[in-house]
Amino acid sequence: MRFETWSKSITTLDVDCVIVGVFEDGELTAEARLIDRASGGRLAKLLARGDFPGRLGETLLLADLPGLTAQRVLLSGLGARKSFGRKPWRKACTAAIAALTRTGVKSAAVALERPNADVLDDYYFGRAVAELTGAALYRVNDLKSGKKPKPAALAQVLAGPVAGSAARAVARGLAHGSAIAQASAVQRDLGNLPGNICTPRYLAEQARALARRHRSLTVRVLEEPALRREKMGCLLAVAQGSNEPPRLIVLEHKGGGRAEAPVVLVGKGVTFDSGGISLKPGAEMDEMKYDMSGAAAVLAALSFAAAVKLPLNVVGIVGAVENMPDGKAVKPGDIVTSASGQTVEILNTDAEGRLVLCDALYYARRFKPAAVVDLATLTGACVIALGHHHSGALGNDETLVRELIDAGVRADDRAWPLPLTEEYTEQLKSNFADFANIGGRDGGAITAAAFLAKFTQGMSWAHLDIAGVAWQGGAHKGSTGRPTPLLADFLLRRARA
Ligand code: BES
Ligand code: MN
Ligand code: ZN
Repeated sequence: MRFETWSKSITTLDVDCVIVGVFEDGELTAEARLIDRASGGRLAKLLARGDFPGRLGETLLLADLPGLTAQRVLLSGLGARKSFGRKPWRKACTAAIAALTRTGVKSAAVALERPNADVLDDYYFGRAVAELTGAALYRVNDLKSGKKPKPAALAQVLAGPVAGSAARAVARGLAHGSAIAQASAVQRDLGNLPGNICTPRYLAEQARALARRHRSLTVRVLEEPALRREKMGCLLAVAQGSNEPPRLIVLEHKGGGRAEAPVVLVGKGVTFDSGGISLKPGAEMDEMKYDMSGAAAVLAALSFAAAVKLPLNVVGIVGAVENMPDGKAVKPGDIVTSASGQTVEILNTDAEGRLVLCDALYYARRFKPAAVVDLATLTGACVIALGHHHSGALGNDETLVRELIDAGVRADDRAWPLPLTEEYTEQLKSNFADFANIGGRDGGAITAAAFLAKFTQGMSWAHLDIAGVAWQGGAHKGSTGRPTPLLADFLLRRARA
């Protein structure tokens, strides 16, 4: 896909299709008016007949209007003028691109009316056009044996009208947005793969493949003997009930100064979470193949950093395991020793994510990180608290948590703060070990983070619970590619790129 800006008159643009907006009351936007005038009032006539009500998300493809270089015009409804803003604009843009992917259109110019610059500036406009196009073109990597549908013809999208320094900002946004869309697709592909294919070894192989593809990336994979040497008793306890051997994957992007402290991203990579001996109920258990979405987001973020040559040192650490019940599986009541030396009473084997993360987070320490952010589909409780709209954001450094939340707002991939105060830690008390791996039902998303906090002392650390946002169930079951856009924005700001 090629992304560019456009600036000359819409009537002479050399593309297969121009996309213009129409408001609900039949009001033509500025670009639509130019087309209307050039074509002898065709649009006004069509609207007067009531043929296009301008409802948000609806589109109408028109062919061969006189007075235009472009053979086609796609009208995209912008909804009511008074509620127009960033969100409706995104929806109209997505609907338009999606409509074009079902046609033979190869090149299109986005000429939709834009919301005010204070809600969508030039840079984020370009970024959104590329990201939304990438998302509209994404096809699930299904394993259906029938013929694959033909890929969409769309190969070039122009964003405008913009000129001068604004055009440069849009072009930068387009480049970043395109890289974010590709990174999101990396996350989605990994997430959508079934657990029998996307195993810990497979994740390690994919990390190696990324490192082969990008010069700035180096990879290291720790196998069982190395994990034992590192005394990762918690991670190994989760893995011991599975036939799939665990892996700790370390993927590094060296884009900053040699002595510069890196940002470390840590991902939960439970390639299937059956719950272990604390077996999950059967309904929707298949969705626990998505329990490696944090890991997938880490690999995606590193591929993004490499693709845009981010001037920043970034380390990705993935704890990859499968959580299964068998004769060797860890049992409720078992006590294990983490890499940090702290002992943990495993009261519920389904609270396995934190056991994987605690050893991976401890490993992060050796990089003397400027900041550590972990991403994990950690708790059902977070889904109860925030639904599917926001990731939960917690940590021991309020500035870092705020940084992530702000990145989520800019990236349209939002997170919301949850309080991580000391009271929650008390719920983890154990009679037999330093602490337990669960803290009861109340505040479950927070007690999970309180557990992680025991392993991140002295580091600037934040945790994103992405259990509600990383995939959707139901008829449109699939990975969403979140929180890759948030992470990309966070890294871009850290790099001041
Ligand atoms: N992977 C799950 C969390 C999860 C559940 C995410 C449902 C999305 C949807 C995690 O490993 C888990 O099982 N957490 C338990 C923790 C509990 C045992 C303290 C949970 O949330 O029920
Ligand atoms: Mn679990
Ligand atoms: Zn899990």
